Amino acid sequence: MAFSPSKFIPGAVEDIKKSVGSDRCIIAVSGGVDSMVAAALAARAVPSQLACIFVDTGFMRKNETKNVEEAARKAGIPLKVVEESERFIKKLEGVSDPEQKRKIIGEQFIRVFEEAAKKERVKVLIQGTIAPDWIESGGGGRQTIKSHHNVGGLPENIELRLCEPLRELYKHEVRMLGKELGLPRHVFERQPFPGPGLAVRIVGEISREKLEIVRDACAIVEEEIDNASASGRMERPWQYFAAVLPSKTVGVAGDERIYKYTVVVRAVGSLDGMTANFSLIPHDVLSSISTRITNEVRGVGRVTYDITNKPPSTIEME
Ligand code: XMP
Repeated sequence: MAFSPSKFIPGAVEDIKKSVGSDRCIIAVSGGVDSMVAAALAARAVPSQLACIFVDTGFMRKNETKNVEEAARKAGIPLKVVEESERFIKKLEGVSDPEQKRKIIGEQFIRVFEEAAKKERVKVLIQGTIAPDWIESGGGGRQTIKSHHNVGGLPENIELRLCEPLRELYKHEVRMLGKELGLPRHVFERQPFPGPGLAVRIVGEISREKLEIVRDACAIVEEEIDNASASGRMERPWQYFAAVLPSKTVGVAGDERIYKYTVVVRAVGSLDGMTANFSLIPHDVLSSISTRITNEVRGVGRVTYDITNKPPSTIEME
């Protein structure tokens, strides 16, 4: 049966009311569509018991804090920004295994929520978990593909009760819900962004240099593809971003040898993130992305385009 957002909303609001009871609850908004929609539902269900926070992990996109604050204000979601970038970066020092990185990030999120919860006297954590998050984290007896920060990345000892109103939904259904709830178009149409943020777009060990590279490269990929799609030169992909590889390669600038990082550009078409096909980006768009990244982002000497589908690869590199 086709998903009906107008039928889903009253049931979800009732479920949230039941699950929260007379307690206070907290939701962490990431700026992505899932948490924004979960926050909008919670704001309908339990407005006077709800605290909303945005955790700046240091792995956010360029200007993200400002953008999320503005989007939340427009959507009527009262938001408190919690700056925790040093904490997350320090905990990830020297860690290169993708699953370990995800688990550390998942745990730190919970510790930040618990600290915020104590201040706000909160007992329930509302999360925007959707179906692919728990399916890929090994839910329903499946093998773990990757531990999504809000499911498989959660520590075992959590002091908060979980409430996940979007648990059974897929991304396209969440977008329909966002529209029905009256969220701004740029919020419910926004491309997905993983909870662990840019940390999973730095393949292997994180460094501040690689973080700056991937943040700037992602901004260029978004800008170029948004412009090309807006002017009708290509269809807007489902998701598009950059990642940085751990090893450097040799290049040449003028008549000097350079030895710099490689950035991978990724753009895919998908319905629900469970499978994906790499997008056919016009060569002139790829060319301006490459020229801009090597000219504008310090430390990058090579740009490649990822031409793998999911499966066998996943959308993110870690
Ligand atoms: P993969 O990389 O598994 O990604 O093909 C499928 C979709 O999920 C996003 N993704 C995440 N979203 N927490 C999230 O909220 C996570 O830990 C996470 N990991 C991947 C990814 O960006 C893609 O849209």
